Formats: sequence, C-alpha cells, structure tokens
Amino acid sequence: MPEDSGNKLTMVTCSAPVNIAVIKYWGKRDEELILPINSSLSVTLHQDQCLLKTTTTVACSRSFQEDRIWLNDKEEDITQARLQSCLREIRRLARKRHSDGEADVDAAALSHKVHICSVNNFPTAAGLASSAAGYACLVYTMSRVMGVEGELSVVSRQGSGSACRSMYGGFVQWIMGQQGDGKDSLAQQVEPETHWPELRVLVLVVSAERKPVGSTSGMQTSVETSSLLKHRADSVVPARMKEMIEAVHKRDFTAFAELTMKDSNQFHATCLDTYPPIFYLNDVSHRVINLVHRYNRHYRETRVAYTFDAGPNAVIYTLQQNVEEFVQVVKHFFPPETNGGQFLKGIPVALTTLSEELKQSIGMEPVVKGISYIISTKAGPGPRLVEDPSEHLLGSDGLPNKSA
Ligand code: DP6
Repeated sequence: MPEDSGNKLTMVTCSAPVNIAVIKYWGKRDEELILPINSSLSVTLHQDQCLLKTTTTVACSRSFQEDRIWLNDKEEDITQARLQSCLREIRRLARKRHSDGEADVDAAALSHKVHICSVNNFPTAAGLASSAAGYACLVYTMSRVMGVEGELSVVSRQGSGSACRSMYGGFVQWIMGQQGDGKDSLAQQVEPETHWPELRVLVLVVSAERKPVGSTSGMQTSVETSSLLKHRADSVVPARMKEMIEAVHKRDFTAFAELTMKDSNQFHATCLDTYPPIFYLNDVSHRVINLVHRYNRHYRETRVAYTFDAGPNAVIYTLQQNVEEFVQVVKHFFPPETNGGQFLKGIPVALTTLSEELKQSIGMEPVVKGISYIISTKAGPGPRLVEDPSEHLLGSDGLPNKSA
C-alpha cells in the first residue's frame, strides 16, 4: 500500500454491475429509507463487456481533512442526503463489528475521512441504471475499506432503490419487506448467473440524452396521483413475482419473456396514468415494441422480449440461438448511419442474412439512425474487487488520476 507523508493510505478499487428489472420497482412507501411499495426482480448484467459497470476507488487516510467524492472526473457535493446515508450506515456497521470484537475491521479507518472516485462507462441518467451500479459500487468498496461484511443490500438500497439488486449476480429479487425500519427490505439472489447461460441481453441504445423526469421524482408523482399504480402494487405484482421466480427456476423462456413485456407495459401505463403524465418511451421505443411482437408472431412463438426503464432505450432478452437473427432484424429495420462498424458492442455476434419472408412478415418501414448502437451481453456476477493497483482511480496523493 502506498505511503502518504508518513500516514498510511488505504486504497481499494471495486467494480459493480448494472441490473435490468423484469418486474419493475416504481413507487416508495418511505422516501428517506427508500422502501418500495412492491417487490421487484432483475437480471444483473455482465461486467466483462466493460460497457455497463461502475468502477470506484475509495482511499482512506489520517491526512484527509474531509470526505470528498468525484464522479466521472467532476467533484460532487458529498453532503447529498443519499450519499450521507450510505457512508453513515457503513461506518455504523464497521463500529458495531469493531465493538463486537471482529478482527477484520480496520480500526484506524473508522475515524479517518475518505476520498471516493467513481467512473461509469455508460451515459449517466440515460435510463441505463447508472445509479444502481454507482451506489452498489460505493457501498461495496466502502465495506472493503472498513472491513464490513454481511448483508449490505439494505445499505445500497438507501442510495438508490434499484442499487440493492446490483449487490448480487444473476437473477435477483428485492423483497419489499414490511418493517418500518427497512431491515427486511433487501435483495436476495434467486439464481446465480450460471443458471441460465443461454439467456442473452441486447441493450438497444435509442438515445443517450438525459431523461426528462428522473425516476425519483417520477415515481413520487405516480404514488401521489396514479390509482393504477396502487392496483399494480397491491394486486398484480405479488402474483407476478411468484410466476417470474418460477419461470427463472425452470428456465421457461416463454413465461419469462411474456411476464417481462407485460410488466414493462404496465409500468409505462402507470406513467401515463400519473398526473401530469410521464412519457419515457419515444417513437423508436414504440417501433421496437411492434418489431418484437411482429417477430414473435411470425414464428408463432415468444422468442424475444423487450423491457424499458425510465428512458427510451430498449433492453431485449432472448436466447442464444436467436441472437444472430434478431440483431440482423434490428440492423435491417433501424439501419445504422455508418456501415455498422461500431453498431454492435460487447459479445460478438456473427452476421447472418434474413429471409424475404421474415422481412415481409414484419412489414415495417426501416428508420435510419433510430438506434445508435447495440450492447450485446448476458447475465453476470455481482460486485468485485479490482486487484490490479494500476487501475486505482486515485493517486498516492489521494486525488483523482488525470487519466481516470
Ligand atoms: C424504472 O432505483 O433509480 O429502473 O430509488 O429513487 O433512486 P430511486 O429510483 P431508481 O428507480 C429505478 C426504476 C426503474 C425500475 C427498476 O429498476 O426496477
């Protein structure tokens, strides 16, 4: 570990994944603790494609005057309530472990200030779940620095609700819980990422703009004004969660896909039922929805599913054997601006040709540049330690590396 003018500088770097919900979280019963009005379930996306993850370095030293944080090369306000909740909780757990006599707690770190530097490699707030990976990574890295172990999803949940699900790999449920203190509102792995290797994910990046209404304020207005949201949380999601968990256990793609699409549609219906209404989908999103249904109708089988979060980007779930053809379908109906060199990122997908019959049966007019690129990926593991010290985002002076 590097030395800092006589003071020990502890430094840890970790990365954490994005997750995409197939049963959506929308609405809180407690704004401060971030307690949801319904349970939810997501798939953690793989970090190896290096396109959908957050990397965070936390440094801790006696010489630091105050806690500081840099996000994507810019210093941010550390006094922000959600950041403070996460830091306070991790330090409280560390103190508790220390007083319980646990040997792995770094006693010195308890009284020291921290410098945090975090980088996302995807567009922040474009509806690509950046807050989920961000808070999961912050909490995971802080816990490593402080020597805290155990159930940490209750902590990352207090940074951003969906972040609790990024604490685990594979298929993860966030159990809403009943208690007022939120101790039973936590994430649990339903199946690991190895459970369903044929399942593939395609992120169709429709727009990299910031979303017009953030999820936090959007869901607040929905809770206040939408009776459909109340019906959804009370009467639809509980049964849907059970069905979805069963579909995942059995690797039943048809059930998984249909529940995923219905739940995305109902979430966006509650956005329309919100007053004033919230529109996250745009024309391209609607076209993707049509395209998927026409593709499935052609084969008389549910081969592909879409889901949309608080933005216009589509996330497609399909099986390995359909990836090549469906990517070609997307390229055909949303021809890229260039010759397609960088149109597909992530896991390589072989080229294929489409039958005239399929094109005609889909029967839509191609829209040039509707989709800027596709990220091809799959389910992956939870947060992990980055072992290589050259990947630290902070230098031995505790300040961000210029190249970070
Ligand atoms: C549409 O977790 O971003 O992506 O808890 O206020 O930070 P806060 O909201 P956030 O909401 C995510 C909403 C969603 C659905 C989901 O991921 O389940």
